[in-house]
Amino acid sequence: MTTEIESVLVENRVFPPFANLVKDANISGMEGYRALCDEAERSPLEFWGRLARENLVWDKPFATVLDESQAPFYKWFADGEMNVSANCLDRHLNTPTANKTAIIFEADDGQVEHVSYKQLHARVCEFANGIKALGYKAGQRAVIYMPMSVEAVVAMQACARLGIIHSVVFGGFSSKSLHERIVDVGAVLVITADEQVRGGKKIPLKPAVDEALTMGSCEAVSHVIVYRRTGGKVAWQEGRDLWMHDVTAKQPSTCAPVSLSGEHPLFILYTSGSTGKPKGVQHATAGFLLWSLLTMKWTFDAKDSDVYWCTADVGWVTGHTYVAYGPLAAGVTQVVFEGTPTYPDVGRFWDMIERHKVSVFYTAPTAIRSLTKAAEAAPQFHPREYDLSSLRILGSVGEPINPEAWMWYYTHVGREHCPVLDTWWQTETGAHMISPLPGVTPLKPGSCTLPLPGIAAAVVDEAGDDVERGTGGFLVMKRPWPAMVRTIWGDPERFKKSYFPPELKGYYLAGDGAQRDTDGYFWIMGRIDDVLNVSGHRLGTMEVESALVSHELVAEAAVVGRPDATTGEAIVAFVVLKRSLPEGAEAKAIAKQLRDWVSKEIGPIAKPKDIRFGENLPKTRSGKIMRRLLRVVAKGEKVTQDVSTLENPQILDQLSQSV
Ligand code: WTA
Repeated sequence: MTTEIESVLVENRVFPPFANLVKDANISGMEGYRALCDEAERSPLEFWGRLARENLVWDKPFATVLDESQAPFYKWFADGEMNVSANCLDRHLNTPTANKTAIIFEADDGQVEHVSYKQLHARVCEFANGIKALGYKAGQRAVIYMPMSVEAVVAMQACARLGIIHSVVFGGFSSKSLHERIVDVGAVLVITADEQVRGGKKIPLKPAVDEALTMGSCEAVSHVIVYRRTGGKVAWQEGRDLWMHDVTAKQPSTCAPVSLSGEHPLFILYTSGSTGKPKGVQHATAGFLLWSLLTMKWTFDAKDSDVYWCTADVGWVTGHTYVAYGPLAAGVTQVVFEGTPTYPDVGRFWDMIERHKVSVFYTAPTAIRSLTKAAEAAPQFHPREYDLSSLRILGSVGEPINPEAWMWYYTHVGREHCPVLDTWWQTETGAHMISPLPGVTPLKPGSCTLPLPGIAAAVVDEAGDDVERGTGGFLVMKRPWPAMVRTIWGDPERFKKSYFPPELKGYYLAGDGAQRDTDGYFWIMGRIDDVLNVSGHRLGTMEVESALVSHELVAEAAVVGRPDATTGEAIVAFVVLKRSLPEGAEAKAIAKQLRDWVSKEIGPIAKPKDIRFGENLPKTRSGKIMRRLLRVVAKGEKVTQDVSTLENPQILDQLSQSV
């Protein structure tokens, strides 16, 4: 393992917590935070056991909090029984929350629909009854390929209600990516929509499902349930395809939630690793929900009066934890948005915050950075032009937020009275791990600050020993936590190898480099592996490389990330063609062809921004591609490192030329 940590942000500004938040916060003041941390430190199992009893509704209480007998395959609350959907919906039915709005859905075209907790419960029950009537049951897998919609939340909740394990595939993924996931997860059911609508455009979804199901090894899929979003024309396979409204029609609006072991798999979500195909990160019922709910209460300080808005798509983990589950368990009103931040204009987010009186807003740095640029170009859509006084908390997720973006968010969106919570976590961690708390933590722009109570985060060296403050190392978790990944679906060996390498003393290896400053604050320094982060989307360099070399013209390809002012990282691909080196217009045309190819193979998010052609790649005499040098070339910098081990140093000049 090698760390390639480029630079550490130097930041001296500190913003103390606001007195009004400290006063009313669910965790108040540093003493409140320390008391919880100490409790967890003294006896982690009693700590988690207490929280699970106090925060979740159990059908059968658990006797054992944690079973470590097969570590690192940890089991939490396994002998207890509960249902996630009951914990998100039924628990509110006999309370005043029942008639409160659960979801304010805003469509791309601005149409708004309010759904109360009671109504959402009924819709989930009707759909659950519908899929039950089709014969689906606990333990089977359903792939969900849907746009942001009430129906997507209904589909996820209905699966959870029956113990059907869902695997949501982001609507921007290609039919090929969808096919890979359907096969790997062994889906028996696919839930989709006819089309999705984003930025005023209709984008087909159902055709991608149809195509995926013709690609082989999908015989297990017996139904495709289609939510009619636009009424656009779709191909129909009688017997297999069903409209969602027909599946729910005439179904009763109550459906008994299935009691499931705390360890029953809740969902599998595919994410990129450094090697091979995307891995199916498997999460479990009780632990995942507990941590989703607690972080809603702790990080977002969830209050009954909140209007909460997380802009993430349900295709990513953020949309699981902080759209489909956490906010509902917490009983807040949340905004679910179908569209994009730039349509009909770049003021859409601010306008929506104003209209819906959003109090907690959670988005990604890439959105902040692009809206900063947009607001400069179109001052009439600058956030200062909107009434954002309802905001009390701002959050950021998915990638490092640079101090400039942090300050803009803090100053212009938060008007210097909302904390910016830089939440560090991953698909594998289930929910927030390192994050400021609104009533506790003095903020430093660019730092995700301190671990949440119960989370034993540390920075260690190659031998698993703590490094000194101010020194970079591997970010690890020294103790298991309830929402942790349970395994990689179908590949337990890869799970062990990826996350619990033997030399690290059994610690969970996050895959990020980090360092702590003298106050103990964590500064994330990016991935230590070949995982890219483009606009907060995780992509493996290997995935993009495999897509490129599967094109008939390509002999070899190497992909690296380059820092990008808007998307965080941009993909640069170095390509060796099977033919002679193309030039000028021809090179441009081939580059476009390859970009479109990658888009079709994986999805538009994986399109290389820059493609460079060469007669070869920089290799050592033993034939290893020197990515380190490619990263330098990709940035447009001169290679100053020693290249004496290179077989072919002259190739670097060739690869410096953009098409
Ligand atoms: C990165 C998204 C810096 C990190 C929830 C991590 C961050 C990967 C932050 C996980 C942050 C996420 N600061 N980096 N606040 N949050 N990351 O699985 O590299 O899509 O390993 O989960 O995003 O991405 P994933």
